[in-house]
Amino acid sequence: MHELVLKACKTFYRGRLVRCDIGVDSGKITAVAKRLSAEHTIDCSHKFVFPGLIDVHVHFRVPGNEWKEDWKTAGMAALHGGVTAVLDMPNNRPAICDEKTLSLKERSVAKAACIDYGFYLGVSDKINELNERVAQRIAGLKLYMGATTGDLLVKDPVLQREAFNVAARFGKLLAVHAEDQCTLEQNIASAKRTGRYGLRYHHKIRNAKVEAVAIKNALALAKQTQAFLHICHVSGSLGIELIKEAKAKRLAFSCGVTPHHLFLINRDVETLGNVAKVNPSIKTKQDRKALWQALNSGLIDIIESDHAPHTLEEKQCEYENACSGIPGIETMLPLLLDAYNRKLISLKTIFDCCCRNPARIFCLKGKGEIKIGNDADFCIVDLKREQRIGSESLFTKCGWSPFEGRRLKGCVEKTVFKGVLCFDDGQIVAHVKGKNFFVGG
Ligand code: DOR
Ligand code: ZN
Repeated sequence: MHELVLKACKTFYRGRLVRCDIGVDSGKITAVAKRLSAEHTIDCSHKFVFPGLIDVHVHFRVPGNEWKEDWKTAGMAALHGGVTAVLDMPNNRPAICDEKTLSLKERSVAKAACIDYGFYLGVSDKINELNERVAQRIAGLKLYMGATTGDLLVKDPVLQREAFNVAARFGKLLAVHAEDQCTLEQNIASAKRTGRYGLRYHHKIRNAKVEAVAIKNALALAKQTQAFLHICHVSGSLGIELIKEAKAKRLAFSCGVTPHHLFLINRDVETLGNVAKVNPSIKTKQDRKALWQALNSGLIDIIESDHAPHTLEEKQCEYENACSGIPGIETMLPLLLDAYNRKLISLKTIFDCCCRNPARIFCLKGKGEIKIGNDADFCIVDLKREQRIGSESLFTKCGWSPFEGRRLKGCVEKTVFKGVLCFDDGQIVAHVKGKNFFVGG
């Protein structure tokens, strides 16, 4: 007799699509079998069950920018999106780039977290001070090769190389925001000179070349230093070409794409306004096509939301001053399920890119697969139920989505975290404390 059984789940188990019961005790998966008995059951007979999703790229804004988002609102948004673990970026205020700021962030987040999590350490001129004790407390390093929200830009090639060396020395993954600052500055200057500086030119200012120059550079550094590289949010076809070549040469690295790059194009940005201003920019239809092809051919390892909330006031101003970034953690899976219904992606690719690969690449023990001994984290979806994205049903503090008004087929119905039903039919119904993967205890 199990504490909880998910009945008649359609899910991926040991690499195969199966129908099974899943037994849960003390927050862990304890049995996977045809028929199990339990004190409590959740009927999944007409549903599809994913392990809780892992979002390796979020900006939850603590410390320092809590008016945009905090871990209570972000945690609820995560559960709404079927996400039970996140890795949070270091472009906070202050930026998280040493032991002192990391400790501050650990203390600020510990109480409020209702999902599991880890933090990146930002690369700055302090990167040489990294020691084993601090390295153990982080998910990886984050290197900003181009300027964006926050003050973590590293333009100096010597320091960029140093970041790769340090990552290799401590065996830590190095996640890279791949936009080349020099190319970007040239583009900005020429855009201003020719009167082509504004939102409708954002994808030309931050074009596929800006990204490709940085990706090429990052791949070369990864090869030379043997650091494990993760290329965040690939957005353009030139970048995809480079990734394809490097993977063919068997260089070990990973890459991610975001929902906004998969589901929007530059034309949409013109109608949506600055709410769709984001770095890297949303590019052309052809670029988007290259992302989908790469995703479906197995070239992309991870789908990451890059959840980057800003208030509408911070968006409703002129282009130059409008904050860049899009919230996305709670709309990511619904968009993907709708894409599945439109035959644009398979459930296996969603499972691989949102669950299995993130856990494997970032070494998140007990996550990403339905497996005995793993955490009992599940996202139960109704593949046929239709919903309309509306700001009133979002939990993110910023309260908006560029996908507002879209009708999507496929819906997150329930999210179970550590064996407890936490999100059910649009509501948060329980709170379980989340833990930091990289801090003991
Ligand atoms: O558009 C962006 N917003 N790109 C980033 O790299 C950072 C993010 C944010 O933190 O707002
Ligand atoms: Zn980001």
